Amino acid sequence: MVATLSDGEVETLVSVEELLSAVAEAFKALSLGEVVMPPRSRINVQGVGDILLMPCLAPSLRVFSLKVVSVFPRNLEKGLPTTNAVVVAVDPADGIPKLVAEARALTGLRTAAATALSVKHLARSDASSLGIIGCGYQARWQLSITQRVMRPDKVYAFDIYRDRAERFAEEMREKIGGEVEVCGSAETLVRSCDVVITATTSKTPVVLKEWVRPGTHISAIGAYTPEMAEIDPRLLASSKVVVDFLNAAKEEAGEIIQAVKSGLMRWEDVYAEIGEIIAGRKAGRVDKSEVTIFKTVGTAAQDAAVASILLAKLS
Ligand SMILES: NC(=O)c1ccc[n+]([C@@H]2O[C@H](COP(=O)([O-])OP(=O)(O)OC[C@H]3O[C@@H](n4cnc5c(N)ncnc54)[C@H](O)[C@@H]3O)[C@@H](O)[C@H]2O)c1
Repeated sequence: MVATLSDGEVETLVSVEELLSAVAEAFKALSLGEVVMPPRSRINVQGVGDILLMPCLAPSLRVFSLKVVSVFPRNLEKGLPTTNAVVVAVDPADGIPKLVAEARALTGLRTAAATALSVKHLARSDASSLGIIGCGYQARWQLSITQRVMRPDKVYAFDIYRDRAERFAEEMREKIGGEVEVCGSAETLVRSCDVVITATTSKTPVVLKEWVRPGTHISAIGAYTPEMAEIDPRLLASSKVVVDFLNAAKEEAGEIIQAVKSGLMRWEDVYAEIGEIIAGRKAGRVDKSEVTIFKTVGTAAQDAAVASILLAKLS
């Protein structure tokens, strides 16, 4: 029998500790070449959105997973979620599918785990203020998981639609048990924060170089096509840039692709994959004043990580 799980069930089955440990293992395995992860296929549905197919065999996590995820930004206007997904998990020991699960929560969890791991390895140890630009679905997971790693004294939020930022702040105050202040501009937020997360669907930078204080860490999760960008290319060129997976970044990390195309940086200037830092092959932050940027486009290995936790719970 194939088990089925709803988003709500996925959320209750996965603890933050298990999540961070499984996603760290997945990033490490990815960087060490220990997973089989074909490039994801992106099928554009003209004018409305993308459907992405994301397969991964992760032997160390004892799972094969395939996620089908769609990103339809205009869904928000219809009161529907932007990102929707389902995952199938297969036991690689016998090839038998064991699980079909809704994967919106899974996606939120594993993407937030990526940011949280980047904060652990790249943010200053005394970082105390956290800001989120783009207050949609991902932002909720980003804040709830990241604050468990960094315990910020102050949290700031900004969205181009103020009502979205206000709704987010109200909801998250209750969830994290702390103040969330809405900022009037992205500039005010960036100038106030040690750690900045960008979780937008923007095609133009939402963080400009001159706003960023020395020692800031930024996790940019939103852009996943060459046309999208959340970070000023000049900032990328002058910062320590870490990616989730270099091969995927070269195809999908819009802001880096644009910075390279305009001659501001080269792919060789990307410092590391996060898995190399987790594996101890490269250092994380080495200096209090360096600006670090983690750019994640999202990998199927992270989905496999959460699928492995779910399979273990069901067996
Ligand atoms: N890196 C990953 O692994 C990963 C995983 C899931 C989703 N994503 C991407 O993250 C992005 C956000 O996803 P979501 O599901 O939260 O979408 P969403 O539509 O729920 O939220 C996006 C929010 O960003 C705001 N926004 C858009 N442009 C902005 C700008 N210029 N300045 C400030 N706010 C702006 C929107 O108003 C909205 O509230 C999407 O592009 C999605 O594809 C990445």
